[in-house]
Amino acid sequence: AAQFDRALAAFRAGDPVLIHDFADREGETDIVYPAEAVTPADVARMRNDAGGLVCLALSDAVARAVDLPFLDDAVDHPAAGDHDLGYDDRSSFSLPVNHRDTYTGITDEDRARTITELASMADAVDAGVDYGPEEFAAEFRSPGHVHLLRGAPGLLADRVGHTELGLALAAEAGRAPAVVVCEMLDDESGAALSPDAAREYARRTGVPYVEGEELVEALS
Ligand code: 5RP
Ligand code: CA
Ligand code: ZN
Repeated sequence: AAQFDRALAAFRAGDPVLIHDFADREGETDIVYPAEAVTPADVARMRNDAGGLVCLALSDAVARAVDLPFLDDAVDHPAAGDHDLGYDDRSSFSLPVNHRDTYTGITDEDRARTITELASMADAVDAGVDYGPEEFAAEFRSPGHVHLLRGAPGLLADRVGHTELGLALAAEAGRAPAVVVCEMLDDESGAALSPDAAREYARRTGVPYVEGEELVEALS
């Protein structure tokens, strides 16, 4: 509960948290941010301290409103057919996007711009603003350099990936249904950062570390 309280307080303040899912799922720790607060320096931290893929999770309701599909449903290629993930029924990947005011889309500034504009979009759609696929397409292009993820409709009741763990924490904290996630990798081994090493990073930096199990207990 102490871990959860610190994580919730961080999200309320717009600060990141470290979420370890489950040893018998991915066994990964992601650094997770409420998307509206992400700055270019945060993107640099994700590249340098985390090292995984920078992704932005949207709630199912927001993804549906702007017609964002699952990538494997949208791509007509045999590689996007049957998924045989070892750790879940399906991937949460949707389209990769850039905001149209970016140039290449990959710089820290460009990715932060794409991320914060996606957060404003999600906040507006969540508040009931009339905004659909055409409006989305006027603001964002795909392909791009921020990988969108689509949350399961029932969040933690349906799936317990970092996608849903992050979105459930955002909902509880009163943040927009848009969270940025990036896997923490070990610079020496290249493997997922171990929970011990992630806790050590948490102590060193003050970013709260929380187990998926604690989030499920507190938020389900
Ligand atoms: C995208 C991923 C990450 O694991 C991310 O945490 C989202 O996936 P999931 O919801 O399955 O944990 O693979 O880089
Ligand atoms: Ca992963
Ligand atoms: Zn994950």
